[in-house]
Amino acid sequence: MTDRYFHEIATQSTFIQAYFAKNLNKAKWQKYHDFNSWQMPTEVWEAEKPLSEINKQFKIKQAGVISINSNTIYDWHKDEKRGAAINMILQTNHSHTLFKRDEGQVVQEIKELKYKPNTFYLFNTQALHCVINFNEPRYLFSCEFEENKKNLSYLKILTWIKKNKL
Ligand SMILES: [Fe+2]
Repeated sequence: MTDRYFHEIATQSTFIQAYFAKNLNKAKWQKYHDFNSWQMPTEVWEAEKPLSEINKQFKIKQAGVISINSNTIYDWHKDEKRGAAINMILQTNHSHTLFKRDEGQVVQEIKELKYKPNTFYLFNTQALHCVINFNEPRYLFSCEFEENKKNLSYLKILTWIKKNKL
């Protein structure tokens, strides 16, 4: 399966990038695990058609911006709670988002998610992934569903998205 790690959502984003640019300098950041996060008002992300459609089927708990500092690595991991997420890059200079299969050998194949602007990706947070960030802070839109990994899997959402041609 080619989309075992992520899936590009065809319907583009139209509002979030502009909201981010306009509000970045007055954003209220909070510490969320090891990240800085800034929650986005529901009416902003709900204005995005794919998110409002997905939200009707799989309730989105919260959505917002997460940032990581320059010259940092977010090491290989699976998310603690989230079975899947919907992500979109907002600002980066040089960073890589990588996936791989479960540990085993020292040398392993990787798959990169090369984020396109204004494009949502369904992201398999239960596949091993890492982010390597270089010279500038990196900002990403991401969301969390009401249901955690026990009840809501990447595959379940992926199947629904394909069926509903989002
Ligand atoms: Fe993650």
